[in-house]
Amino acid sequence: MAESFREELHDVTLTVNGAPHAVRVPARRLLSDAIRHDCGLTGTHVGCEHGVCGACTVLLDGKPVRSCLLLAVSVAGAEITTVEGLGGDDDSLGPVQQAFADCHGLQCGFCTPGFLTTITAGLRENPTPTKAEATEMIAGNLCRCTGYQNIVKSVLRAAEITAEREQS
Ligand code: FES
Ligand code: FES
Repeated sequence: MAESFREELHDVTLTVNGAPHAVRVPARRLLSDAIRHDCGLTGTHVGCEHGVCGACTVLLDGKPVRSCLLLAVSVAGAEITTVEGLGGDDDSLGPVQQAFADCHGLQCGFCTPGFLTTITAGLRENPTPTKAEATEMIAGNLCRCTGYQNIVKSVLRAAEITAEREQS
């Protein structure tokens, strides 16, 4: 009789939003699953699970990545930022979150964590986007509800809020 297959587990420390999470995972555990199930941070959403929709986008050392396309064991030592890490220390909304609230940038909200992380990274690269650049910034993320117009407005508003906060 064949022995039952036991997957080898690996001890990895994931640094998420500045906090270390020691997890024991199989080598093939997706980063998206590790964030949600092993770290308990369910703000990162999983849609297509094959790199198309952008819902699972997190920041890896500040760069947007699709967490459904990465293995958790491959990112030990990196700084991971999820949507839970985008607010202020006092639980205030971060600039992109505030802009989505101001401009009604979400409806069901399923896609929103991926947009928030994507735009946060995008505005670091280009803090003063034009409307065309804002549209381009979100071109890799899918939303089934909004028609994107208010998301583009949110990008532009987030740029304003960021500039206002930097001046004050
Ligand atoms: S769930 Fe990762 S890109 Fe869609
Ligand atoms: S707000 Fe529903 S998918 Fe974007």
